[in-house]
Amino acid sequence: MGRFEDRNAIVFGGTSGINLEIATRLAAEGARIFLVSRSQEKVDSAVSRIRSSGYSAAGHAADVRDYEAVDAAVKAAAEEGAIDIVVSGAAGNFLAPAADISSNAFRTVIDIDLVGTFNTARASFAAMRKPGASFIAISAPQAEKPMTSQAHACAAKAGINMLVKCLALEWGEQGIRVNAISPGPIDDTEGMRRLAGSDAAAQAIADALPLKRYGTKQDVADAACFLASQEGAYITGTILNVDGGTSLGTGRLV
Ligand code: HXC
Ligand code: NAP
Repeated sequence: MGRFEDRNAIVFGGTSGINLEIATRLAAEGARIFLVSRSQEKVDSAVSRIRSSGYSAAGHAADVRDYEAVDAAVKAAAEEGAIDIVVSGAAGNFLAPAADISSNAFRTVIDIDLVGTFNTARASFAAMRKPGASFIAISAPQAEKPMTSQAHACAAKAGINMLVKCLALEWGEQGIRVNAISPGPIDDTEGMRRLAGSDAAAQAIADALPLKRYGTKQDVADAACFLASQEGAYITGTILNVDGGTSLGTGRLV
């Protein structure tokens, strides 16, 4: 018997990378999975991939910036019953110095990451099981650790961390737990393809980490399953670092 037998999970941004791994792990432990991202083609392909392993999956294309579309996706997911697990991981990012990006570029990342996380939470609230539901946002160490060419993403993820804490305060009474996972650099992801650059640069990033390696998508999925499960039943308002020590910095004086 899996930990999520008979549970309903919706994963926003769940059609690739870290979030798809989380969705697949939840499905492998018994959850009925509903995937959401902008591309219908990516939704269909990810749903087929999960089903081909013998697990239960469906999906719906929606842009997390569009509240009505998110609401429609949640309503479609809730046809299976109350939603037990919401993972909100849609994000957009690129490396660009603040002095070079347009106001629209900055707003685009804030809209996808921060407003998108609010939209997924707001739209899911009515459909979530009370008590018992778990909402998990996907943040990043850059929420607290500033990084050059990442003002847009750092600001967006910082907003997500505070949003998670505010929602945890407001929704605790209904028995909804709200947490975030903050992954460090994760191997074989679009995020690191965009941020790391060359193989030599990627190796230098790994060498600078306390654990001396990139994380795996499985590392993040393990943490998500823990938070979503009964084992995480007394955890709310937490930002769980799954980052190999990234958030500790280098430990050197300068
Ligand atoms: C500067 C850029 C840019 C770039 C786009 N823009 N790419 N500016 N450098 N590399 C500008 C555009 O010129 C435009 O501004 C504005 O951003 C919106 O661009 P669009 O292409 O119209 O946006 P859209 O089609 O909505 O695409 C969103 C996107 C795209 C974020 C730009 O890259 C995307 O869809 N990404 C999703 C996948 C992704 O990024 N995955 C990695 C997540 S990793 P103007 O002024 O010209 O209109 C991650 C790691 C976090 O989040 C860890 C660190 C915090
Ligand atoms: P990814 O593969 O690019 O995944 C992003 C997902 O979000 C895709 O399914 C994408 O599908 C969807 N998406 C993007 N914009 C959307 C929108 N406007 N509306 C709905 N869905 C949207 O990225 P990843 O590297 O695995 O990152 C996943 C999460 O982990 C993100 O929240 C990221 O910030 C976080 N993170 C990643 C790392 C890392 O090392 N990779 C580190 C720290 C944090 P569509 O294109 O179909 O929309």
